[in-house]
Amino acid sequence: MELSWLEISREALTSNVKAFRALVGKDVKLAIAVKGNAYGHGLVEISNVLLKAGADYLCINAVFEAEKLRKAGVKAPLLLIGYTPVSDLKKAVDLKCDLTVYNLETIHALGKLKKPVNLHLKIETGNHRQGVRLDELPKILEEFRKHKNLRMAGLSTHFANLEDRINHKYALYQLREFKKAYRKLEEGGHAPHYRHCANTAAAILLPEAHFNFVRIGIGAYGLWPSETTLRAAEHAGINITLTPALTWKTVVAQVKEVEIGALIGYGCTYEMPHKGRIAVLPVGYYDGYVRLLSNKGHVLIHGKRAPVIGRVCMNMIMVDITHIPDVKLEDEVVLIGKQSKEEITAEEMAANSQTINYEVTTRINEMIPRRLVA
Ligand SMILES: Cc1ncc(COP(=O)(O)O)c(C=O)c1O
Repeated sequence: MELSWLEISREALTSNVKAFRALVGKDVKLAIAVKGNAYGHGLVEISNVLLKAGADYLCINAVFEAEKLRKAGVKAPLLLIGYTPVSDLKKAVDLKCDLTVYNLETIHALGKLKKPVNLHLKIETGNHRQGVRLDELPKILEEFRKHKNLRMAGLSTHFANLEDRINHKYALYQLREFKKAYRKLEEGGHAPHYRHCANTAAAILLPEAHFNFVRIGIGAYGLWPSETTLRAAEHAGINITLTPALTWKTVVAQVKEVEIGALIGYGCTYEMPHKGRIAVLPVGYYDGYVRLLSNKGHVLIHGKRAPVIGRVCMNMIMVDITHIPDVKLEDEVVLIGKQSKEEITAEEMAANSQTINYEVTTRINEMIPRRLVA
């Protein structure tokens, strides 16, 4: 028996993919980001479900993910959106990945491989992460033209703050810069087939950013990029239902009586305010249940909330169950997800650990088993 495990709902993933398909229409390629172990949900199993539900492309960050997917028999188009070291380019091409490019050196090295490669040129429009500035385009195109094996398959960029703002001025500026870059490529005779910049927030809030290809991540897993995005969508009357796909479960490893004044865990940071009972659970920060949740998190047992008391340890946490009768060894505990009428959301856990839902699900240790459920 596992100490903790994830249950991933196939039905939720499928309904999320279908919701995005309905939003963008049938003529727009739906690429889904499965980097970060499918945002913590489990790379291979989840990729298969997403493809079956209608995803056209999978976006990965690194070559090792392409290796895993191809080894598992996934034949779908893969778009590598992270950095591919020059020494790994041949492997990426042999694994039939489309490649995001933004360096002269990468284009030159891909050209020398003399194998057909689909390039997606990334444009710097204001995020100041990956991307080629508009004034660098002539040099990039000059190098590109030298190599007959290279195909300009796509042009891309990435928004900086769409999910953080009600006012989308900066995103609209980025979109204008992106269109300028496209026109420059068109004038140079290299108009790429695909144009893409829409993440989940843009797919929902900015239809003009769909072009003919969107790259969504968090939404496919049933989570909103932010509370601001959710409110902006409601305000704009955009109707899309996202259903969280992930539940993280564990079991009770010990129930014990404690006296009033008992000091709980490392550092004695919690003093029992009453005589009562606590449960010890076999998960900790090694598993991705971060230490910031010490004296802050909650879990669900018998459909009731139990507060985390004391510090989160490497492999264990303690919770107060004085108010929950009849808890016994190996009773099921929910760390993220629903139990009866109660729910611990990834957003609640994020708020309690000073981060965002993306990090909450992605940080769940890869060693923990993921089970697909109906
Ligand atoms: C380049 C790129 N495109 C798309 C996405 C998907 O973003 P989201 O999960 O907000 O939909 C990401 C995620 O970080 C990304 O880095």
